[in-house]
Amino acid sequence: MCGIVAYVGPKDAAPFLLEGLQRLEYRGYDSAGVVVSNKGLKMRKVKGRVADLAAAVPARFKGTLGIGHTRWATHGAPSDVNAHPHLSTDERIAVVHNGIIENADELRAKLEADGVVFVSETDTEVLSHLIGRTVKETDSLEEAVRMALKRVVGTYGIAVIDAQRPGEVVVARNGSPIVLGIGEKEMFAASDVAALVRYTRQVVHLEDGELAVLKADGFHTFASDARETAKEPLTVDWEAGHYDTGGYEHYLLKEISEQPDTVARTLRGRLDDRFHIAHLGGLNMDARESRSFRRVKIIGCGSAYYSGQIGAQLIEELARIPADAEPASEFRYRSPVVEPDTLYVAISQSGETYDTLAAVQELKRKGGRVLGIVNTVGSAIARECDGGVYLHAGPEVSVASTKAFTSTAVAFALLALHLGRVRDLSPADGRRICEGLRRLPGQIKEILALEPQIKELARKYAHSPSMMFVGRVRGYPVAREGAQKLKEISYVHAEAYPASELKHGPLALIGPEMPTVAIVPDDELLDKNLTTLGEIRARGGQVLMVGHRTADPKLADDCVVLPKNEVELDPILMSIPLQIFAYHAAVALERDVDKPRNLAKSVTVE
Ligand code: G6P
Repeated sequence: MCGIVAYVGPKDAAPFLLEGLQRLEYRGYDSAGVVVSNKGLKMRKVKGRVADLAAAVPARFKGTLGIGHTRWATHGAPSDVNAHPHLSTDERIAVVHNGIIENADELRAKLEADGVVFVSETDTEVLSHLIGRTVKETDSLEEAVRMALKRVVGTYGIAVIDAQRPGEVVVARNGSPIVLGIGEKEMFAASDVAALVRYTRQVVHLEDGELAVLKADGFHTFASDARETAKEPLTVDWEAGHYDTGGYEHYLLKEISEQPDTVARTLRGRLDDRFHIAHLGGLNMDARESRSFRRVKIIGCGSAYYSGQIGAQLIEELARIPADAEPASEFRYRSPVVEPDTLYVAISQSGETYDTLAAVQELKRKGGRVLGIVNTVGSAIARECDGGVYLHAGPEVSVASTKAFTSTAVAFALLALHLGRVRDLSPADGRRICEGLRRLPGQIKEILALEPQIKELARKYAHSPSMMFVGRVRGYPVAREGAQKLKEISYVHAEAYPASELKHGPLALIGPEMPTVAIVPDDELLDKNLTTLGEIRARGGQVLMVGHRTADPKLADDCVVLPKNEVELDPILMSIPLQIFAYHAAVALERDVDKPRNLAKSVTVE
């Protein structure tokens, strides 16, 4: 999604702006632009990559105040003209904007009736003209931005500069993140800490409705009614090195390979060997409260939703509380019944996904108790929830989620253990799960060592027009996530079905053209799964089995054999070979692995 960077200080802004935009590339975009102020505004914008923008910026592009943007088109096609920044007619004001202005057409018509000539098709240009007209009357950029935003319906994160105020950037947030970075006599702002960590670790997250005025020597923040707000800076522990590929060919492979560590970090300090329980201090709930829930409802989008399905399964099995997962994007629109004895859990790697945030806000409005399972410390969803579990998986850069997925599933195992042990889960079962969790990092290493075999299989199957993924009960969310990984990064069509449902419809698709990846753990459903494999093979379908043993060649063409853990925890491990499979299929098909077409890492619009 769109990215914003801004700088004010003693140095030239352009190097930071360009490097910052490069750090935001992973979020997905189609055009980019920068503007600096030095006796008037100097602007460059291009359709294409940040590298193209850097090439278009002249060597003498001086100015110690500037803003930049990567655009992900919503209003108007990707083009040089539609790229941000957008200027007021007199070129005094420049604006970059993330989000969507819903009443842009109406505001545009009014401005056009007043004689304003628009140059782009964007909703954002409305803002540059509104601010440009008001700043002349108020002679205060802060006031002009505030007044313009009062007329706007929709979501925004914006950064604005005024050629006549060379020492000041105004930023504001409503639904799209803005983070301030505090430097030594310089201030930064960005839509994502990824752009800031090379320059400062001291950050301040703006809340919805807040506006901030940044100058080289500090910042002031204001609520929507112009009252000044007090903000405590937060120290981020993510380092610049986390955003490098670290010698790997792609971020995705790096992040897959990090999983022994990231899972260990999610577990660190949270397992208690005396009582065989999980310590989750961030839940902000005592044992009595933890016992009081009669239902758990999990929400998230994309891979976060599928990890929530694994989570629901873990909670039902270990805590014996009815639990289910639903896409947050659906949940928020269907006027959900919010019950006082239901525990709501929102999942988000970025902590910024708009649909998930809106669902959490809806739940809070209706008095729901919401926990967050979130990777990004201090993110909007984390701030909005009543408590939660941080993943500590480090920044995830590749669009397709891998390490955040497994860490979320591990966080659910901890939550399920906690909810189980304050109910009826026995100490012996608690101990079994604790020990199983401790084995995960080592077993993930064993699975990563299978990469050469999985790579060969990926090459073999990558050219199939379509693939089926099946799993039963615990294996079903694994199959869904496996299909999701394959389609999002390799663009091979993939469907996931419960293995039990195959003969109620999709079996009609099975034949030599449609291979099946079958999730077959060594659990109480093994025989049922093997029967399904026989049914597929009988229709001429190829089978790649992912399980704990080698199957009879009559049942599977290929087998990936994984280390065995406790049955409840097996889904966490079984998702990893499918990540490796999707990665190598995408490489074999020469896809843009880390930035798949049409997708964005963090979807901050509806
Ligand atoms: C986007 C990404 C997915 C991700 C989903 C939820 O659609 O492409 O990979 O799973 O958002 O993101 P979140 O940051 O909320 O986990």
